[in-house]
Amino acid sequence: MKIAIFASGSGSNAEALMKKAKELIGVKIEFVFSDKKEAFVLTRAKSCAVPAYVIEKKGTREKHEQEILHLLDDHKIDWILLAGYMRMISPTFLRELKNRHEGRAQVINIHPSLLPDYPGTDSIQKAYKDQVAVSGVSIHYVDEGMDTGPLLAQEKVVLQVGETLESFATRMHALEHQMYCKVLEQIANQELITRTYKRKP
Ligand code: GRF
Repeated sequence: MKIAIFASGSGSNAEALMKKAKELIGVKIEFVFSDKKEAFVLTRAKSCAVPAYVIEKKGTREKHEQEILHLLDDHKIDWILLAGYMRMISPTFLRELKNRHEGRAQVINIHPSLLPDYPGTDSIQKAYKDQVAVSGVSIHYVDEGMDTGPLLAQEKVVLQVGETLESFATRMHALEHQMYCKVLEQIANQELITRTYKRKP
């Protein structure tokens, strides 16, 4: 399975995936793609010896996505793992991918909340500000909505009494890395299971 990681920022999840992929048989991180030329994920890709491509959005979203599709086609990518990719994927892009993969778009995203709670940006900060007792991490297939696709994995993180935001965020990210690596392993073993969306009690 050839995998492309899409990331716009730091890339700690991307790094965890790149490292994990080296241990696995059946998956290869073909490249990291970023829409930001200054993204730190590009430095991480270099130190993991994984090729990286940048295509910044210059014109319309359609034009940008067509350029990305060409890149994916050139490399015959099977799966896209979003890891802090700060753009919505358009329905047209998803449809194009579905045409290439027998009706499945094969795009996965990781999100630091117990979806459907706290979709969108700054979820960790928002949950902390609200002092939500039980937060967590979700991994899901990408559909047209904002963090709405079918769940693949979801695990809880309990906020500790008096915990700082920094400590909470560190624990959330550590869980993200662990969970995303597990999903990568499932892709390698061709054993992904989709769950239906359900709010955790
Ligand atoms: C992660 O919290 C991920 O869940 C969210 O964006 C963040 C990216 O962090 N979608 P990093 O760039 O992987 O460190």
